[in-house]
Amino acid sequence: MKLTQEEQEMLEGKQGNAVKKAMEILTALGDIYGAKKMIDVTSVQIAGVSYDNLGDAGLEFLAEMAKDGKTRVLTTLNPAGMDLENWQTLGISPEFAEKQKKVIEAFKEMDVITTCTCTPYFIGNSPRFGEHIAWSESSAVAFGNSVLGAKTNREGGPSALASALTGKTPEYGLHLEENRQAQVIVQVNSELKGITDFGALAKVIGERIKNKIPFIRGIKKASIEELKSFSASIATYGGTALFHMEGITPNKTIIPQEKITIEEKEIIQANKELNDDSEVDIVSIGCPHCSIKEIQQLAKLLNGKKVKKEFWICVARPIKKIADQMGYSKIIEDSGAKFACDTCMVVAPIKGKFKCLATNSAKSVYYARAKNKFKTVYKNLEECVEISLREAI
Ligand code: F3S
Repeated sequence: MKLTQEEQEMLEGKQGNAVKKAMEILTALGDIYGAKKMIDVTSVQIAGVSYDNLGDAGLEFLAEMAKDGKTRVLTTLNPAGMDLENWQTLGISPEFAEKQKKVIEAFKEMDVITTCTCTPYFIGNSPRFGEHIAWSESSAVAFGNSVLGAKTNREGGPSALASALTGKTPEYGLHLEENRQAQVIVQVNSELKGITDFGALAKVIGERIKNKIPFIRGIKKASIEELKSFSASIATYGGTALFHMEGITPNKTIIPQEKITIEEKEIIQANKELNDDSEVDIVSIGCPHCSIKEIQQLAKLLNGKKVKKEFWICVARPIKKIADQMGYSKIIEDSGAKFACDTCMVVAPIKGKFKCLATNSAKSVYYARAKNKFKTVYKNLEECVEISLREAI
């Protein structure tokens, strides 16, 4: 790979040890994927923030990088293993909390904005069309590439951090226009009723086309929340990092020859597959993290009611602050539901604490089953709230 003089100096350690290590990671990646050069990035989002995933080895790596590393572009974090302020309320142990705080401190030392969210585009880390970025959370990568029209590969935690500390990424994969073209037309012959249908459709598409890039036809409209859910689900079930949706997403693409059709019955079947016949003991909304509109809806639905089950609402802290200001948080907390800021059901260490999760997120269903061995109930927001209000049997 051809490096500029500045990049060469970074690699030689003339800009410090952390930058040297970062450049080593990026050049190794570039060599593996056949990149010809580095390009500048304008935004970074780092996953692998939970101490549950990082362990002591990950924490040591971060502490080492924090000795002399500083971010060069706007960088935010994916959810951590706990709510950084209210971890006790969510049943996190003090030992875990201490380690998790050290992880966050190391990032802060490097000037990473320590807002932990998988929806960075809701809190100001929102690149514009055509910008090269280095994001790592799979749902945000699919959303960033497809809905925002920015360009990113799916980075691992270390390579995203390396981009943050250098402002660079190797030019390969989805940074190149020729790799961003649709490979299969997906004709959808069904009306979609809300977020759960978008999640179920994305599951069907992901499972059928795997990581090919789809050009999806037949969807008349989609809200930002529906697109966030769709992005999370297609990335989970298909490994898809970029999709085109005719009339909805902004990227231009050639129209491919290969075509598949998806009928309503497949979406109904996918909805069924996401549901187990089991008694719910926890409800969780906010995978990916809630928008302020979703919090507003939850406040309306929970107003004056009392939940009878554990209820987590996963959200970025800045969005929760808006909810505080509007009085939504008080309504929600008075009902007994809890905010889980900075974290989520999947990265928090909750295995063994619950048996059956109700959620409106197809991605949550996947990980609740695979990681935590929970049963799942997949329903829209209103039904999830209704379930939370029912007495446990
Ligand atoms: Fe976000 Fe956690 Fe879901 S990181 S996309 S809320 S699994």
